[in-house]
Amino acid sequence: MQVSFNYNFSTTSGVRMKRTIYAAAVVLGMTAATSAIPTLRAQAGADAQKAVDAAYAKFRTLKEGKNADYIPALAKVDPNLFGIALVTADGKIITAGDVQTEVSIQSISKVFTMAQVIEEQGLDAIAKRIGVDATGARFNSIIAVEGVRTVVGAGAPEMNPLVNPGAISATSMVRGSSADEVWKKIVGFHNDAAGRQLSVLQDVYKSESDTNQRNQAIGALMLAYGYIKDNWQQAVDLYTRQCSIGVNAKDLGVMAATLAFGGKNPVTGKQVMDAAKVPGVLAVMATAGLYDDSGKWLYATGLPAKSGVGGGIIAVSPGKFGIAIVSPPLDDAGNSVRAQRAITEISNALGGNPYARAKAGS
Ligand code: DON
Repeated sequence: MQVSFNYNFSTTSGVRMKRTIYAAAVVLGMTAATSAIPTLRAQAGADAQKAVDAAYAKFRTLKEGKNADYIPALAKVDPNLFGIALVTADGKIITAGDVQTEVSIQSISKVFTMAQVIEEQGLDAIAKRIGVDATGARFNSIIAVEGVRTVVGAGAPEMNPLVNPGAISATSMVRGSSADEVWKKIVGFHNDAAGRQLSVLQDVYKSESDTNQRNQAIGALMLAYGYIKDNWQQAVDLYTRQCSIGVNAKDLGVMAATLAFGGKNPVTGKQVMDAAKVPGVLAVMATAGLYDDSGKWLYATGLPAKSGVGGGIIAVSPGKFGIAIVSPPLDDAGNSVRAQRAITEISNALGGNPYARAKAGS
């Protein structure tokens, strides 16, 4: 008799319970096993809540880092905002702190626009036009684009859709006959992943539109080198709008969980993207999600993740959970300080690292 569990954390107690229940199912039949599943889920939920609460308590008073201020509206966001949301396979949302206040999604949107292009045009579309390689440079580096041109040739797919040049190019690849049509697709994909209708934070959109000359330069350069086929101005504007979408920690947690569970939103049950395409998205997050600190992050957690200068980070433990934290103060690389620390603690407490070898015999 086969019993399948939604809960799959590899904590010692979880593994023991799984074995116990499997044996019980064999002896007593499906009825007994089925009635044990809620108990198992409740235990998993309790473990996760404990880990989330502990990290919240530990990092609540941490004062390191500073809000981004190169987009003036971001400097005005309350630096004390701190919310955690972990979402399990059965759509349970485990929270601590403020999970209602919205911040701008910023670069986390790059993941979902990349995912949308991959969903629409296949895994090769991004890999062949933009590339899936880490640049090792800052997220808005122009030298990285020039480096590719000098070493390999203009238009070579040697970057990725999570740094600005690749992200603006990915936005330009979303198909549609008007800016409005493309925008509806972009925001629609974000809505499906979050499980609710999201809106643009107009103050952030205006503030970034007024100050995004560097991204405009990148857009023009990407047209010149053939990554963007036409209308770089539209690509930069839509990119700026997608970065200004308002999200709270809960939204981001559900979006992370949609990627953790094969592209299916575990809260709404909607299949947002083809499960076979999700590993490609996660691979780019693993190599480039925290910019030039992606290697350090992966070393500490093993989790594909993505940060945004609004203060959010999402992280994915495939098949186990999606987690998000919102906390605006950033480190020098542009990643939320508290979010990095708290996700690391929570994931390690729950056995979230996909590279961690299961204990012998488990
Ligand atoms: O393009 C920008 O500068 C912002 N809209 C997004 C940057 C960002 O979030 C980088 N994140 N760590």
